[in-house]
Amino acid sequence: MALQDKFDKLEKQSKAAEMGGGQDRIDKQHLAGKKTARERVLALLDPGSFVEMDKLVMHQNHDFGMEDKKIPGDGMVTGYGKIEGRLMYVFAQDFTVFGGTMSRSNADKVVKVMDLAMKMGAPVIGLNDSGGARIQEGVQSLAGYADIFFRNVRSSGVIPQISGILGPCAGGAVYSPALTDFILMVEESSYMFVTGPDVIKTVTHEEVTKEDLGGAMTHNARSGVAHLLATNDEQAMMMIRELMSYLPSNNLEDPPYRAPHDQPNRTDEALQTLVPDDPNKPYDMKEIITSVVDDHTFFEIQPFFAKNMIIGFARLNGYPVGIVANQPAHLAGCLDINSSVKAARFVRFCDAFNFPLITLVDVPGFLPGTGQELGGIIKHGAKLLYAFSEATVPKITLITRKAYGGAYDVMSSKHIGADINFAYPTAEIAVMGSDGAVNILYRNLDDEGRISAIADYKERFANPFSAAELGYIDEIIFPKDTRLKLIQALDMTRNKSYTNPKRKHGNIPL
Ligand code: HXC
Repeated sequence: MALQDKFDKLEKQSKAAEMGGGQDRIDKQHLAGKKTARERVLALLDPGSFVEMDKLVMHQNHDFGMEDKKIPGDGMVTGYGKIEGRLMYVFAQDFTVFGGTMSRSNADKVVKVMDLAMKMGAPVIGLNDSGGARIQEGVQSLAGYADIFFRNVRSSGVIPQISGILGPCAGGAVYSPALTDFILMVEESSYMFVTGPDVIKTVTHEEVTKEDLGGAMTHNARSGVAHLLATNDEQAMMMIRELMSYLPSNNLEDPPYRAPHDQPNRTDEALQTLVPDDPNKPYDMKEIITSVVDDHTFFEIQPFFAKNMIIGFARLNGYPVGIVANQPAHLAGCLDINSSVKAARFVRFCDAFNFPLITLVDVPGFLPGTGQELGGIIKHGAKLLYAFSEATVPKITLITRKAYGGAYDVMSSKHIGADINFAYPTAEIAVMGSDGAVNILYRNLDDEGRISAIADYKERFANPFSAAELGYIDEIIFPKDTRLKLIQALDMTRNKSYTNPKRKHGNIPL
């Protein structure tokens, strides 16, 4: 073959790979408001930084007439590039090629970038748009998925793994994301289910729409499977870029410092009166968070799920932190099954990737009820207790108002290893609220006696002073100084070195 022919062949194959399943299918993808796999990768990474690998890989299947249907790349775009100049590995399923399904060959492509990512200590971002295992390949495609699952687990806690769900995803295309750290879905175009509506109808006779079963809002607000919601592909890529700006490349690095524009000693007079004097009045904990963090920027995770708990990333004087906070504006900030599991998983992520934990507490206790008890709140609440106790990163806690009962212990109390514990003067640290306590302690009091007993109890316990006398609270602070106090504590804990006893792994109550 003449030299020019060789060049032409490469160009032709490369072009064929870029055309995926052909113009008609690309148009269909665009009509559905979705980008193609390649367009997504280019939008995700810094301009000009993407380097594609295995562009010419093809499937090796000879069943069901597949030998005549070969497309270079085989419906999977893989490679590496940069986000804000930092190395990232990516794979993106191309729905225009056999529904983005997983063949043995394209599983090998994913395995290759996952192995490289572990060796180089860089994150993996998977952009999923796939019908799961390629049915024509039988056990070969199952094996391919299992090879990926295995690597998802081995990479867990070593490098960040992020999943975009950008189309209808089934089977392995949801299980691999489920093993990763964060899942982002897109409104109206992405779905996740193990078995779709048709199978459900056949097996259980239930009728359910795709949206209700596995739509973006279903998994963001109800099941808690997803962590982030975008309105379209473009926004999805921007959100992943923003998320990555907080994350370190691997577990041996600290999250990336970004020089702040904000002054560390900035005070906020509005905080002085934000927490109402009346313990039964709600307020929005997010106002405290956005007031104190750098540039008022808070990247919230799972904002639609278990709203009684707030989790997310922010920066304090340039250093990324993980924030965990009760939300008194929703269910009075109670701990329940969903909020405990939501926070526990986030705490473990932060601990694995060296994020100091800032915990803001206003919690009246665990949510009572048969639904909670029979649903296993004992086990699920224990997850949060376990996660905070196990975390060895710097832990700084601020009690803004209520810290009642077991929930006081759970929410990163001094006793389970917090390094610095602050309280506002409005804090109430007690076994329970005054009314409840008096009801139990003095069952037969008349009204006058009750009022006086409640006043007594409030005087003794509905404040932060008893805890401060015992050293369980290191400092009672003025709310306006919150930012500076948190930054000083963070600065003090910067070189924290503390490890758990050596063991294979603990046994978190799953
Ligand atoms: C081979 C598949 C396929 C599959 C879709 N296609 N899924 N080909 N194997 N698993 C093909 C279709 O035949 C079609 O090809 C093209 O992809 C687009 O699919 P459509 O059905 O036309 O698209 P849509 O209506 O948008 O529906 C998408 C879908 C649906 C919801 C994903 O295709 C679907 O339900 N697929 C099956 C999902 C599934 O059960 N997968 C196996 C999971 S088991 P043409 O040529 O007609 O365009 C699994 C095991 C892993 O993954 C282990 C788990 C633990």
